[in-house]
Amino acid sequence: MSNRIDRIKLNHWLNIRKTSLDVLNDLLSKHLNYTINFENLENLDDHAIEKISEVLSVPKNKLLINDEVPSFIYNSKKQIENTKRPIRRGGIHYYNYYTLPSPKGYVAPVLIDILCPKNKLPVLNNGHLEPAITVSLGPNDIYARFAKKIDKDTFLKFRINPDPNTNWIVGSNYYEPSYCLHTYSRATDGPGRILSYTTKSHIEDLFDHKFNENSFKHLKKNLNIERPNRTFLFQDILNRGYDLDYISKKTKISKKKLENFFKDNKKKLSLKELTKICNIINTNPADYIDREFKQDKVGKYYYDYKDSIKTIRKFKSYEVASIACSARDPDLTGYFIKVKNNTKKSILDLIDSNCSHYLVTKGKVNFFSIDNKKLNKIKMKEGDSIWVASYTAHGFSDKGALIKISDGQNFNYLEKIDLTNTYNLKMTLKRGRKDKVNWGYDTKK
Ligand SMILES: [Fe+2]
Repeated sequence: MSNRIDRIKLNHWLNIRKTSLDVLNDLLSKHLNYTINFENLENLDDHAIEKISEVLSVPKNKLLINDEVPSFIYNSKKQIENTKRPIRRGGIHYYNYYTLPSPKGYVAPVLIDILCPKNKLPVLNNGHLEPAITVSLGPNDIYARFAKKIDKDTFLKFRINPDPNTNWIVGSNYYEPSYCLHTYSRATDGPGRILSYTTKSHIEDLFDHKFNENSFKHLKKNLNIERPNRTFLFQDILNRGYDLDYISKKTKISKKKLENFFKDNKKKLSLKELTKICNIINTNPADYIDREFKQDKVGKYYYDYKDSIKTIRKFKSYEVASIACSARDPDLTGYFIKVKNNTKKSILDLIDSNCSHYLVTKGKVNFFSIDNKKLNKIKMKEGDSIWVASYTAHGFSDKGALIKISDGQNFNYLEKIDLTNTYNLKMTLKRGRKDKVNWGYDTKK
């Protein structure tokens, strides 16, 4: 199907550009022999779309109709197996990759067969920007390696839970930060497999196109690598036209103390002092508090399967246990689920703000979901996977186990912070969604 302009998006960009349809038509008149209006938008040819995007200085894709994100996407084990592709590393057939279902344009999780034999030291990759959660799926233990130099943190047995009573908690798991090197080999003569849920990075646009070379170099040179929050506070003081003399005078914090805080990471300011500064520059002190993260020396946060077992708890109609996650990526979280419920009723007891991937690891389960009052039911078995959108009521019955991993690709924590900051949220939610109202100008009759 050819491209079509989305009326709502065009209206939004007319509002942003502080222009009107009449002005737009004037500007287009040398290129088009007809005028556009909200009624004929859907029939415009590519040339007209091109010109509108030029005149408004907006990339075309910001004006075009998107397919709506589905409520769920189910892939059977067979469909997932059809995505199998090999990769070579270190001169051998090293992994097989399989992709789990995701909406168009999303970073998708993968299953990886580990083929590197146990007697060969696994060859490190180069790491990647996208953070990930990885779970050992078995059937056998494998080795995971995280650095050139090998020690107890950088080379370990990525174990499978052998206990039939708790093996719905399939195996060990960990959170992997950006550019953490990682590689795997077999630890036995048998096969091993992992689920690697790599999610979108929120900072990729900074590296990609947002900054010019000069700006990026400056950021890199001036950023306090251990405490970037302090650089941003200092910069926000300057951004608003204040200097430390003025801040010191108004807060009664000595200039020396302020200078030391920005120079030396060991020096502290109390929350009260930070709040005083933020009151002057009118920003939120929480944005500048020093962060602490649970991590080891290569940055990962590791749960042996026994650590996950310690977190077993009842949740709704299920038993669940945690998968490792990190405060570095508030959206990327997961848990193991045990389903044991032979009810004939539809179960719709789960609803999350984040979208989720489920992989059935044991038995068989019925998946239920409801969207726009339509009830959906899918029978799932071991190896099947389903992606579920944000705020979609869903649930499972029958007898089996799943791994659930959620992320922010449908709704992320930065957007949640922005909504928290939004004035007149009720009106914004109403107007922002399908805004057909112009920003306030008279139209020619
Ligand atoms: Fe990876």
